Amino acid sequence: MADRPGWEAEILLAEALKKPQAWLLAHNDYRPTKKELAIFDRLVARRAKGEPLAYVLGEQEFYGLPFKVNKNVLIPRPETELITQRITNHKQQIANSVIVDVGTGSGAIIISLAKNLKNKDIKLFAIDISKEALTVAQQNAKLNKVEKQITFLRGNLLEPLFTKKWKLEIGNCLEAGNWKLEILANLPYLKTGLPGLTKAQKHALSFEPRQALLAGTDGLKYYRQLAEQVKKLRAAYPRLNLTLYLEADPDQMAPLKKLFPTFKAKVIKDFCGRNRFLILN
Ligand SMILES: C[S@@+](CC[C@H](N)C(=O)[O-])C[C@H]1O[C@@H](n2cnc3c(N)ncnc32)[C@H](O)[C@@H]1O
Repeated sequence: MADRPGWEAEILLAEALKKPQAWLLAHNDYRPTKKELAIFDRLVARRAKGEPLAYVLGEQEFYGLPFKVNKNVLIPRPETELITQRITNHKQQIANSVIVDVGTGSGAIIISLAKNLKNKDIKLFAIDISKEALTVAQQNAKLNKVEKQITFLRGNLLEPLFTKKWKLEIGNCLEAGNWKLEILANLPYLKTGLPGLTKAQKHALSFEPRQALLAGTDGLKYYRQLAEQVKKLRAAYPRLNLTLYLEADPDQMAPLKKLFPTFKAKVIKDFCGRNRFLILN
């Protein structure tokens, strides 16, 4: 449940009153109306049942930007910011790139990149299998004023990129050999049955979409499919300059590497010092 109940109560009260939190401090003699109290009670009741604060508020910050979230998208996690940071820190190397965020969810990664990478020679794509998630991602792109910079596609992993339309749009760049393809993927990687998680952790996850979390008995179901698609892509574009940034659990780094045997692999730790990302090129 809430680690800091007093602080969360203030956030929920500010939400019920539709005021910034700072307003509460300056107006501690304010008497909420009956309607405001009823809204506050409803928000508290949802939170008390264990629903994550981000869903109760309908919003989560990621990389300093606001993102709308609902039950159709995973709440973007702070550790995922690290991969965004790594890419934005290497702006120069990112020029002449096609960047694809596979399993975009709320659009947190690709929208943060669009906001921070203003180069004209970058093409940004966001793919998700879930129509509802794509709707949220597109709303978030509008909210952050980058909707014109990103192409949103629905489909299974990289499949939308194998279509005729895609080949026309970016295939030429990849064939020419002077463009790079960067694939970012925070795909579902939890194991069926969620072994090793506490009851409370499982309860919190029960509010998030199954489709965003679970990936078979070893949690690698989608990364295995992605590896097959990448093989196909490389066969189609032999001169392709490709880098993959994959997020997974620390114990999945070794088996994940094995799925991409022809790549050079580098493991990156998250803010807690756990092996969290695999960079392959
Ligand atoms: C772990 S969530 C990550 C969301 C977002 N990238 C983030 O980091 O917050 C995984 C996302 O992958 C999507 N997904 C699951 N299977 C997929 C598939 N076969 N093809 C494309 N997207 C898929 C889910 O709908 C979900 O939005």
